[in-house]
Amino acid sequence: MKRVGGKSLVASALLGASLVQADPQSICATENICYSIAVPTSSASSNSGNIYFQLKAPTSYSWVALGTGSQMAGASIFVMYQDGNGNVTISPRLGTAHSQPQWDQSSTAAQLTLLAGSGVAGGIMTANVACANCESWNGGDMSLQGTSVPWIAAWRSGSSLATTNKGATISQHGGSDHTGFNIDLTTATISSDSNPFLTSRDTGGGGGSGSGSGSPAGGNGITLARGNPNAAAILAAHGVIGALVMAVLYPLGSLLMPLLGRWYVHGAWQVITFALMWAAFGLGVQSAKDRNMLFTQTHTILGTVVVAFFGIQPALGYIHHRQYVQTQSRGAVSYVHIWLGRILMLLGIINGGLGLRLVGERQELVIAYGVVAGVIFLCYVLAKVFTVIGAQKAQGRSYKEDRVPGNMRRPYQESRRHGGRYA
Ligand code: HEM
Ligand SMILES: *[C@@H]1O[C@H](CO)[C@@H](O)[C@H](O)[C@H]1NC(C)=O
Repeated sequence: MKRVGGKSLVASALLGASLVQADPQSICATENICYSIAVPTSSASSNSGNIYFQLKAPTSYSWVALGTGSQMAGASIFVMYQDGNGNVTISPRLGTAHSQPQWDQSSTAAQLTLLAGSGVAGGIMTANVACANCESWNGGDMSLQGTSVPWIAAWRSGSSLATTNKGATISQHGGSDHTGFNIDLTTATISSDSNPFLTSRDTGGGGGSGSGSGSPAGGNGITLARGNPNAAAILAAHGVIGALVMAVLYPLGSLLMPLLGRWYVHGAWQVITFALMWAAFGLGVQSAKDRNMLFTQTHTILGTVVVAFFGIQPALGYIHHRQYVQTQSRGAVSYVHIWLGRILMLLGIINGGLGLRLVGERQELVIAYGVVAGVIFLCYVLAKVFTVIGAQKAQGRSYKEDRVPGNMRRPYQESRRHGGRYA
């Protein structure tokens, strides 16, 4: 808080000298759809209270929306459309995955007030809005002092909805008619808690201050992620390949080792799975970039850690194999390979579930994923248990004997004949 206060003091001093106030931050998502956001210093310092934003777009759009969050799921969304009487309607909605956000009529809904200067004039719709409680909503929150706060935007061209009904049905935007941006809200502060959009400053009067003044790239404090027309396909591919790798292919590949006892089948299978895993990772990084959420969520962080550790598994497996061929027994590396693999598989499966939750997938799908992953992992565990017990019986050994240190020989032959079976 102190820092923000200090910063804005410096800012006021500097700007005061040139007789210009700090301005709202502006960004244009397209040539003519522009958004501005302003945070009064009083709200910033208490991290609650009014914030102001503006939506501006031609009447050729059926609706134009802004929202707080990184993606539709979990976002607080503000949709603007014509009210049919020369003004606009601003509708607070909650984002749920990839479906129409519904009007939020609950007590925690964003308290939006349409301000002076709003209306339809010269073919342009303008909504000047005050939000009394936008710092938190049902599904998320944001710091009014945040230096990288994610927002989303979307729009749909078409005819006027001409309604004052905040629950009006809106139709889906096109594949690239959405974007996201991160705003340094400390560069969007205004000194007074009042409508900042009446004194038109978006003509560039700020003289090089932080405000973007309608440039498509936004101001210094805003980074725009352009709508990627393939975003949905990339995310879907990431999800399908990732789930297949973690919940099906890795466990099956691990199962092949005790089941067939052929190291090269296991090795080849896992190497292919390994390649697919990196493909899923690349697609995931792109998806996170499209949503301005790279390494900001548990799913993206845990995923990166798991994939990085998986990165050393082929080498560990190979070292184990070479060593086994020579000594006919498992060494430290073998156990690291085996146990790291098991732990990573479990973490990977859990991370897949987190990913499904992150994008707001339906509960049934999350459960189905959990069940399939659980059953396959159980098969792996059971196959492991039975082959070990079976092999021990065949060798007339007791479980205890096998655990005696120094007698680390395993009953399958990994060596000379390149893939003998269990004895
Ligand atoms: C009828 C209403 C809506 C439907 C059916 C819908 C559906 C979808 C679908 C299917 C996608 C993924 C595919 C693609 O990229 O085209 C998507 C992405 C997106 N939509 Fe919507 N949408 C609606 C309204 C909105 C609104 C009002 C916003 C306001 C900000 C919005 C913001 C976004 C954003 C930022 C993305 C990309 C990030 C993400 O995947 O969540 N959408 N939407
Ligand atoms: C639109 O509504 C707002 C809020 O009631 C008002 O302040 C503004 O003057 C209206 N605009 C027009 C063009 O009537």
